[in-house]
Amino acid sequence: MTWDFLATATEAALQAGVLQKERYGQPHQVEKKGEINIVTDVDKACEALILSLIRERFPDHDIVAEESLLARTGSPYVWYVDPLDGTTNFAHGYPFFCVSIALARGEEVIAGAVYDPVKEELFTAERGGGAHLNGRRMQVTATEALIDALLVTGFPYDLRTDVFEALRVFYRFMSEARAIRRDGAAALDLAYVAAGRSDGFFEERLHPWDILAGGLMVEEAGGRVSRFDGSPLLLSAESIVACGPRLHPRMLEVLRDLGQNPEKGRPAAR
Ligand code: IPD
Ligand code: CA
Ligand code: CA
Repeated sequence: MTWDFLATATEAALQAGVLQKERYGQPHQVEKKGEINIVTDVDKACEALILSLIRERFPDHDIVAEESLLARTGSPYVWYVDPLDGTTNFAHGYPFFCVSIALARGEEVIAGAVYDPVKEELFTAERGGGAHLNGRRMQVTATEALIDALLVTGFPYDLRTDVFEALRVFYRFMSEARAIRRDGAAALDLAYVAAGRSDGFFEERLHPWDILAGGLMVEEAGGRVSRFDGSPLLLSAESIVACGPRLHPRMLEVLRDLGQNPEKGRPAAR
């Protein structure tokens, strides 16, 4: 039997999501990976479940997963797994987290699934096949002006090494957009852009497992995805801007201006 890539991503995301929902609000073990970066036993259990399904169906493929350091064999097929995106939310009982699974062939992401078990929303995308939310086609917004835009962002776990630096981009977009939300699960943030629930997303220093599935969704829903300098994201995740096609030049303009006038993005010292 030949297994379908998207069906496998979807099945693995649903299985892990069921586990997250069962364990949500129950006691769980929390370990610190850094000062504010945590991992729970549920992250690990979800990852084990996802890896076992992928390995069973595609033993020759490589896997990059957040909680395990896995050897690469050089396969052109690489799965990117975030078993629980939004761990801090999950651990605190804040209902905004998901599973995110993407498959890349060479430099291109070809399939992705993001599952929010709380709302039972399954976001899927296949290169060239569109993006869907529970089977219904998704479309990004046509918003053009930043003043009409609801943006979403997030911050890296090393934020505290230079809070002002981390807030520069936020500060600039805050001065331009209608509103900004920070919800704590980058994969779901991107899926929301694809679904037209927000107009755009930006964040720095993410990991490929955070953004590759959601990035494909935005593109397949008619949006644009790039780095802060406008160059293609490929499989990197150093910075990402994802939004509707009309808003993309506006967001890049703000970032270009910030690059040229860095002090504009720094709140004045009191
Ligand atoms: C985090 C979330 C968060 C983002 C962080 C990520 P995790 O992933 O996506 O929204 O701001 O940078 O690391 O640790 O919950 O899987
Ligand atoms: Ca993540
Ligand atoms: Ca995670």
